[in-house]
Amino acid sequence: MELHQIYNQLWQDYTQQNPSVEKIYNLFLNEGETINHDHIAFRSFNDPRVNIDVIAKPFVERGYEARGEYHFTKKKAYAQHFEHKTDPNAPRIFISHLLTEQLSDFVQETVASILNRAPQKQFKSEELIFSKTLWGKPKYQIYKKLLKESEYAAWMYAFGFRVNHFAMKVNDFKKFTELEKINDRLKSEGWKMNQSGGEIKGSKEQLLEQSSIMADKIDVVFEEGTYQIPACYYEFTKRYPDKEGNLFSGFITKSADKIFESTNQY
Ligand code: NI
Repeated sequence: MELHQIYNQLWQDYTQQNPSVEKIYNLFLNEGETINHDHIAFRSFNDPRVNIDVIAKPFVERGYEARGEYHFTKKKAYAQHFEHKTDPNAPRIFISHLLTEQLSDFVQETVASILNRAPQKQFKSEELIFSKTLWGKPKYQIYKKLLKESEYAAWMYAFGFRVNHFAMKVNDFKKFTELEKINDRLKSEGWKMNQSGGEIKGSKEQLLEQSSIMADKIDVVFEEGTYQIPACYYEFTKRYPDKEGNLFSGFITKSADKIFESTNQY
């Protein structure tokens, strides 16, 4: 599989699952904007079978390397971002994993049990990043219990290995050059924006501004029946040049921490 095929497969899964994505993509396309992606984000668990190193593998083998790391103390998560060594237009890959060892026995046991239940050979496959829930139908009761302790754990339990979000590169826009303009347009069309830590996370001084819609609520089939829960969201990033004139390429931990909350219940 070549990199562009990986991006395409991820994009297809993401747009099929989340109806807002294609609508927003088309909205800006119809406004005449060129749409490129700043980054693609994944979540996982800190288990040697599926941790950041494992999720990053197909990308690292195709020219990506780790460039930055981020600690989310309160959410008990850790992340790294990866950039392509030679292609500056390739989207960054942002991968986090939940530090399950810092969570309750219940979370640790649940995560161990679902990973043990999965076909182990899938963890070694390049297809892991498209594999979704390898543990069969989730239980709503367990999802709700995980939610009380960690939204991140609950999301992973319900959705498994798949894209968490794509982020549009606002720097390539001609008309909607300000996040405020993008947010206002989306709100006027009925989308709900993530307000955690303010609608726009970060600032020009921090060299990165980000905003995102709240994740689409979609039907998920649990053992107890079908429930609507937040799945994935679309993000927008605007980067600024540093004193040397180079566009800032990393992430701001505090902003990323708030962006995670786009999958909160609402
Ligand atoms: Ni993001």
